[in-house]
Amino acid sequence: METIQDQMRQLKLVRIAEELPLLLQDASKREASYAELLQDLLGRELSAKQDRHAAMKTTMARFPFQKSLESFDFKFQPSIEPKVIRELAAGRFIADADNVLLLGPPGVGKTHLAVGLGLRACALGYRTMFLTASSLVASLTRAHQENRLEEKLKLLVQPRLLIIDEIGYLPLERLGANLFFQLVSRRYERGSILITSNQSLAGWGQVFGDQILATAILDRLLHHSTILNIKGESYRLKEKRKSGLLTRSEPYTEPGAEVEASS
Ligand SMILES: Nc1ncnc2c1ncn2[C@@H]1O[C@H](COP(=O)(O)OP(=O)(O)O)[C@@H](O)[C@H]1O
Ligand SMILES: [Mg+2]
Repeated sequence: METIQDQMRQLKLVRIAEELPLLLQDASKREASYAELLQDLLGRELSAKQDRHAAMKTTMARFPFQKSLESFDFKFQPSIEPKVIRELAAGRFIADADNVLLLGPPGVGKTHLAVGLGLRACALGYRTMFLTASSLVASLTRAHQENRLEEKLKLLVQPRLLIIDEIGYLPLERLGANLFFQLVSRRYERGSILITSNQSLAGWGQVFGDQILATAILDRLLHHSTILNIKGESYRLKEKRKSGLLTRSEPYTEPGAEVEASS
C-alpha cells in the first residue's frame, strides 16, 4: 500500500494517494471490477485537479467579494430572465469571445451577477480578471506614461473573460477614454468583456467625453453581445424601505447613492 501511495504522490496524484486505503476497501465491498476501480480513482483525481484549478483562477481573478449566481434572487429582479443568465453561466459566450453588458441603476445586482458569472467562468477553467473601470483606466494611464502600454495591453488581453465593473460613475479623461478604446479593440473577437454600467448606452458619449469614440467602442462591444437592461429598485434599499426608514417608492437611481451605500 505504501509503495503505491508513494508512487501516486510522485505522479502528483495527491487526492487518491490519500484516499487509497478507503477506496480499495470500498471497491472490494462493492465487488467493483478493475476497470470500475480505475475509473473511480481517475475520476476523483481529475475532479480534485479541476477544483484546484478553479480555486487558483478564482484567486487570480481578484473578485471584490464572492457571490454566486445561486444566491441571486431572481424573484426580486423580474426584469432579468433567469434563462438568459443560465445560458451565460454555461460559458458559451466566453468560448465564442462574445461580450456581456449589464446595465441598470445602482443596487440592482449588476456587480453580484458579474461576480457570479466570473466565478462560473473560473469553475469552467477560464482565466478571468475583475477590475473596476476606474482602476483599469488608472493602470492603463500609468502604463502609458511609463512607456509600457504595450506590455499592459498584452496582459489585459490574456484572460478569456475580462470583467470591467462600474463604467459611467466617473466620466473619463480624453487619454483614459482613448486607452479604453485601445483595450476594447485589442480584445475584439479575441476575448470576452463583461461590463457593468449605471448609464444607458445613450449616455456613453458623455462617459467617454466624445460621441465618436463612444460609438467606436460600442460598435466593437456590441457586435457579438448580450445586453441585459436591469430595471427596478435597489436591493440594498429594500430592507430599509421595509423597515420604514425610507418612504419613497419610486426606483432610487441617484448616482451619488452608490458611493454612500457601498462604503
Ligand atoms: N436579486 C438579488 N438577489 C440577491 N442579492 C442581491 C440582488 N440584487 C442585489 N443584491 C445584493 O445587493 C447588493 C447590491 O448589489 P450590487 O450587485 O452591488 O448592485 P449594483 O452593482 O447593481 O450596484 C449586493 O450585496 C448584492 O449581493
Ligand atoms: Mg456595482
